[in-house]
Amino acid sequence: MKDTFKAVKIFDDVYWVGAIDWDVRQFHGYLTSRGTTYNAFLILADKITLIDTVKAPFADEMFARIASVVDPDKIDYIVSNHAEMDHSGSLPAAIEGIKPEKVFASKMGAKALGRHFDLPCDITVVSDGETLDLGSEKITFAETKMCHWPDSMITYQHGRQILFTQDAFGMHLAGFERYADEYDRAIVDYETAKYYANILMHLASFIDKALEKLGTLNLDISMIAPDHGPIRRTGEDIAGIINSYAKWSAQEPTGKVVVVYDSMWGSTARMAGAIGEGLSAGGAKAKLMSMSACHRSDVVTEILDAGGLVIGSATMNNDIQPAMADVTTYLGGLKPRNLAAGAFGSYGWSGEAPKNLQKWLTDLGLNVIADPLRVNYVPDADDLAKCRQFGVDIAKATLASLED
Ligand SMILES: Cc1cc2nc3c(=O)[nH]c(=O)nc-3n(C[C@H](O)[C@H](O)[C@H](O)COP(=O)(O)O)c2cc1C
Ligand SMILES: [Fe+2]
Ligand SMILES: [Fe+2]
Repeated sequence: MKDTFKAVKIFDDVYWVGAIDWDVRQFHGYLTSRGTTYNAFLILADKITLIDTVKAPFADEMFARIASVVDPDKIDYIVSNHAEMDHSGSLPAAIEGIKPEKVFASKMGAKALGRHFDLPCDITVVSDGETLDLGSEKITFAETKMCHWPDSMITYQHGRQILFTQDAFGMHLAGFERYADEYDRAIVDYETAKYYANILMHLASFIDKALEKLGTLNLDISMIAPDHGPIRRTGEDIAGIINSYAKWSAQEPTGKVVVVYDSMWGSTARMAGAIGEGLSAGGAKAKLMSMSACHRSDVVTEILDAGGLVIGSATMNNDIQPAMADVTTYLGGLKPRNLAAGAFGSYGWSGEAPKNLQKWLTDLGLNVIADPLRVNYVPDADDLAKCRQFGVDIAKATLASLED
């Protein structure tokens, strides 16, 4: 297989030896429309070191890429930056096949790996800030707890100034090009934001801590090499993603308002359209997302840089519609902040849905600016005018929040 799956040279002494997953579309609820990569990296120092591994079904691909540059037996060290199975799934096979002198992880990483696998060797725990001498190279570990799991750490390679960041700064994007600057910019930007919104949005305080730590370490960084998607190598790309993470962790509101809804017979959808007219007339940038057309993970991505959220559902069997339960459960866990908000929906006789959505918005701590807007059955001209005004009011509240 090593004649087919080759390592990709990053420097004479650093290779990408990961795997490309063209087919994956589901990552615990996140629609990975463009597939992904599981990145593993090989440092050819005196002590040959493998940084992370790949998801279990891709072990052969990783081994083939390694074997295309070096006999896997020659690997001395394996570093596990993150114990989640998309990066550690091939670790048992790697330990079996390579028989490394040492396997390194953070304290929490060693614990988590022990709960995932019955490994044939001990894990050597590294401490926050510890430096490991590879002979011709040095690497330093820094804990980045909860970016993405309690075990998460990043590894800095001094000579080449590469920061291996596991999930942080990554994106789900399959492709043969290894660098972000080789892809369409709009795709890279969208997938980067989508990754942050769906994986890291609720961990903002930990992102802040990690960014603060990076600032304190004051590293010269020539590359950011995450465990998913392409590597960032231009100064603009490196500064760009650090700035984006700082902006997203603050969830700074903008003049965009996302309207998320579902409808059985079209009345709630009609209300959404009229609310959108009002939002737009009120100076907001309205984005309507029907849950029969949109995926929850794209909704969350749009909300990441919004300043308002309007949420609607027809009442069905005394509650919200199932697609709304799906998106509210998912979005609630990701804890969006700093949004002006409102709820709406059409109903027949009991009309619980808009009230339940209003409660959901209030419980999230969002700035709910009006009573829930309810329309009995099919909206008439007066109802639609009320919907439009509702949109104008939410636009006003959203734009006012930008001035605070
Ligand atoms: C399967 C089903 C269950 C419903 N359950 C309720 C209900 O429990 N309470 C209520 O007020 N209306 C209920 N309705 C009435 C709808 O809320 C009403 O027809 C509304 O106008 C539909 O809005 P839509 O056109 O946006 O789907 C139900 C309708 C359907 C089709
Ligand atoms: Fe992860
Ligand atoms: Fe991951």
